[in-house]
Amino acid sequence: MPGTCVIGLQWGDEAKGKIVDLLTERHDVVVRYQGGANAGHTVVTGGQTYKLSLLPSGILRTSVHSVITGGVVLNPPSILGEIDGLRERGVNVGGNLLMSDRAHVIFPWHLEEDRLIETRKTGGEAIGTTQRGIGPCYKDKVGRTFALRLGDLYRRGFRDRVRDIVDEKNQFLALIAGKNPFTPIDATQVYDQYQGYAERLKPHVADTTSFLLDALEANKRVLFEGAQGALLDVDHGTYPYVTSSNSSGVGIPSGSGVPGRYMNKIMGVVKAYSTRVGGGPFPTEQDNPIGHHLRERGNEYGTVTRRPRRCGWFDAVATRYTARLSGADTICVMLLDVLSGLDTLQICTAYEIDGQRVNVFPSHVDDLRRAKAVYESLPGWKEEITAVRKLADLPANARKYLDRIGEILGRPVEIVSVGPDREQTILS
Ligand code: GDP
Ligand code: IMO
Ligand code: MG
Repeated sequence: MPGTCVIGLQWGDEAKGKIVDLLTERHDVVVRYQGGANAGHTVVTGGQTYKLSLLPSGILRTSVHSVITGGVVLNPPSILGEIDGLRERGVNVGGNLLMSDRAHVIFPWHLEEDRLIETRKTGGEAIGTTQRGIGPCYKDKVGRTFALRLGDLYRRGFRDRVRDIVDEKNQFLALIAGKNPFTPIDATQVYDQYQGYAERLKPHVADTTSFLLDALEANKRVLFEGAQGALLDVDHGTYPYVTSSNSSGVGIPSGSGVPGRYMNKIMGVVKAYSTRVGGGPFPTEQDNPIGHHLRERGNEYGTVTRRPRRCGWFDAVATRYTARLSGADTICVMLLDVLSGLDTLQICTAYEIDGQRVNVFPSHVDDLRRAKAVYESLPGWKEEITAVRKLADLPANARKYLDRIGEILGRPVEIVSVGPDREQTILS
């Protein structure tokens, strides 16, 4: 049963792209199965940095199939831009890339809705989306009436469907725009543009569900690349401050069409601390010199939007919950080098909510908002560790910190990362 899964256990940006890239050489297929161009996964190798958004992080190795399944929401100009960008840098993208005809397509009205809703300010904290049209597209998918899947772009009737949907969407957009300016969508223009995109994407469009099931039945090794992180899962995360897909481990079967029985190893990826982009409660947030240290040393600025990421201590209450929820077998601890130079490190081991100590992650965002982090302190280390390649060569306090994370999460730490490059990795 050759399925390996890489899942972020925090609020995204755990460096999943680096882990997927590392594991790709031992796999035949790499799969993106949820989310869309809200993701920004970084791979650094041979002095080159690649920022991947919709394309699976396996795309740099052309001997491997990169597959985008029906659970992804696909923005044609984004993916075409990514393909062109890679080709310009000498990465061949051809028959190795497949995308599902079942994937829902993002249209300009989704982007406009995302923008208008985010700027509407209805009181309360904004979600702070990436404004990539993700939520509006998933909403239409579940609603069915106004949705178009990639396969629909090649069917007769596509032009009429666009016209009918645009009629409805322009009325809806005018309604939510209120006094905000918006440019009505032109159906003919959208149809012409998307016809062009469809032509260019055609060689890659396939029934990826059958492809993956065939591959797994033939004992091919398949790697599932999660996007976002489990705390952003629409059902199990910090709702409503989440994304619109199942970004924890539970989303793999539904997003990919591959049953859970094929997943034989789940690797949970965490940063050695915590970050969050956008709104929502964050009990271990450090809006102070510690947060500043983490942001500057970790270059914590969004890959997609360049927004400064909110930074804080490692939250073991949240990650123990998501490690269990995602069925993580092992843990990868990333960006450990960022902690060098801090005298004392803190791990949040419980919350205090209304005077009560709890170590179960609250299901309601209001309770999480009132949660005060209870910390365990560990001594830090001064040494730079970016050149270390063996666990035994890490400072003793760094090893203690890793051991404590593994112990609290109840899973072995399998990989430790001490820098962005493929080489800056310690396998335990
Ligand atoms: P993803 O969305 O989970 O793939 O993560 P991102 O790519 O959005 O963010 C992770 C960032 O950390 C990227 O800029 C990586 O190049 C960088 N990175 C990955 N591993 C390490 C590490 O061990 N140390 C440092 N300093 N940076 C790392
Ligand atoms: P990767 O795969 C970090 C966050 C947004 C916002 C919320 C909803 O790179 O880890 P959306 O545009 O999805 O409707 O935004 O989710 N978010 C991410 N945060 N990493 C990501 O992806 C994210 N994708 C979405 O900042 O708070
Ligand atoms: Mg990212």
